Amino acid sequence: MQSFITFIQQLEIPQDTQRLFHGRGGKYPQSEHLCLDWFEPVLLITSFKPLEDSELEQIVDAIKQRWQQLAEETPLNLVYQFRSGLGTKTQLICGQVPEPHVVTENGNQYNVHLLKGQNHGLFLDMRNGRQWVQQNTQGKKVLNLFAYTCGFSIAALAGGAESVVNIDMSKGALSIGKRNHNLNDFVGNASFYGHDIFKSWGKLKKQGPYDLIIADPPSNQKGSFVATKDYVRLLRRLPELMSEQCELLLCLNAPELSPDFLKQQVEESINNLIFVGRVANPAVYADIDEEKSLKVFHYKK
Ligand SMILES: C[S@@+](CC[C@H](N)C(=O)[O-])C[C@H]1O[C@@H](n2cnc3c(N)ncnc32)[C@H](O)[C@@H]1O
Repeated sequence: MQSFITFIQQLEIPQDTQRLFHGRGGKYPQSEHLCLDWFEPVLLITSFKPLEDSELEQIVDAIKQRWQQLAEETPLNLVYQFRSGLGTKTQLICGQVPEPHVVTENGNQYNVHLLKGQNHGLFLDMRNGRQWVQQNTQGKKVLNLFAYTCGFSIAALAGGAESVVNIDMSKGALSIGKRNHNLNDFVGNASFYGHDIFKSWGKLKKQGPYDLIIADPPSNQKGSFVATKDYVRLLRRLPELMSEQCELLLCLNAPELSPDFLKQQVEESINNLIFVGRVANPAVYADIDEEKSLKVFHYKK
């Protein structure tokens, strides 16, 4: 854990919301279970292994000391999450979490919820993906599959997209997504479907064709999407939604599946598609095995 403590002792606080320490990448021996995020004005410690009271105390003390040096006048807001699927527990260590809690990334605003559930409303590892979308959507009709809280839609509209269709079977996530649109004054050119993608193809087709299709599915959500069998099923149906100049942004966050897995699935299912490149992950997410890290692939016709 010493590498995490050493990091904290040199910590700087950025303006934008982002990951600060990513032990999960395996680059910090003995700290592989630990992460630190900045959801301004709150620091979030995440551990993927249960911490002894003394270990948590050591981390919290180091953060308090560093905070004292950085921002003596400002109270420290600190949350700790032990992450373990259904056993996930989150606790406020000190200070408070604003309600509503709004954070900023690349000039866009997002609602987050650190004290509720395992995910927080904004996946920080997709920061560069959202930036890519913001830079590549001027005038485009966009389809955001597996939209969650519509992070990609906000980025697309900030980048001048003509319209965005968002679909996700979680109505709760989509309702936060709608709030995100209001927050950024993007009202009118986004639509929202709270349905299973595989059962709503007719609706999606009616609104198409699209110039950019984003697919960011879960790796394994029982009964809804299992990448090893459903990604290919999804890809096979995409051509009927694609415009002449359509581009695809295909994502996969599954350490157990290699970049070649996704490339092969694409080759098997869609003809004449060109692989343009992989959107790099934020530097802080560096992994000793890049095969395992988040994949964000750009394809065009
Ligand atoms: C990895 S999250 C998407 C993150 C999102 N793209 C973002 O950038 O914040 C996966 C989402 O897929 C949704 N989902 C899973 N299976 C689905 C299905 N068959 N149809 C529609 N949505 C689905 C889940 O509800 C979840 O919100």
